[in-house]
Amino acid sequence: MSENSPLRLAIFASGRGSNAMAILSAVRTGRLSRVDPVLLVCDRENAPVLEKAREAKIPALQILPKAFPSKDEYERGILFHLREKNVEAIALAGYMRLVGPALIEAYPDRIVNIHPSLLPAFPGLNAQKQAIDYGVRVTGVTVHFVDLQMDHGPVILQKCLAVSPEDTEESLIERLLPLEHEAYVEALEGLSCGRLRISGRRVFWVSDY
Ligand code: GAR
Repeated sequence: MSENSPLRLAIFASGRGSNAMAILSAVRTGRLSRVDPVLLVCDRENAPVLEKAREAKIPALQILPKAFPSKDEYERGILFHLREKNVEAIALAGYMRLVGPALIEAYPDRIVNIHPSLLPAFPGLNAQKQAIDYGVRVTGVTVHFVDLQMDHGPVILQKCLAVSPEDTEESLIERLLPLEHEAYVEALEGLSCGRLRISGRRVFWVSDY
C-alpha cells in the first residue's frame, strides 16, 4: 500500500450486493476518502449486484468457478484481473464461497469479510436463522480478516443487536443489515487509514495515522 494514494479495493459479492453498495456510497460521500474501489468480482450469473455495479459505474468482473478445472485455477484466474487493476485489498461482501490459499497467499492480511453474527457464534450459511433457532437474545455483525477457515480470522470489529422473542429470520436480516453496512464502512476506514495491527487473534486499532 503506498502512503498517500487511496487503497485500491476489490469488492467480492455473490448476490444482492447491499454491502457492496454501502461501501461504494461511503466512497462517494467522502466517508471512505482513502478507499478507491477499482473492481467488483462476482462468482454468480445474473446476480443482482452485477446490475447495481453497472449503475454505480464500477467495473464488474463476472467470473464463474465452473469455467475452471479447479478452485485453485479459478482463484488464479481472479488474481490475474486483480493484478491488472493493481488491487491492494479485498472486501468480501456477501461472497458465498470459502477463499482458498491462492488468494490468501497473494493478499496476506489484506482480505476482510462481513458476517451477520457475533462470531464465533453461527458461522457459515443462514447465520440469522441460526440465531433465531438457537433463541439468542443478543446477536450482531462481525468484520474480520480472512484466513483459510470459514468466518474465522482475527476480528476487526463487532456491533451487537438485541433480539426479541418476536423476531423472525426475516426481521433479523432486515434489522442487522444497516448495522452490517455501518460496521463495514468503519472497518474499511480503519484498514485504509493504516490503523489496524494484527497480533495473533487480536486486532489493535492505532490512532497515529
Ligand atoms: C450479508 O448479510 C452478509 O453479511 C452475508 O451475506 C449477506 C449478503 O448481503 N455474508 C455471509 O453470510 C458470509 N458468511 P448483501 O449481498 O446484500 O451484501
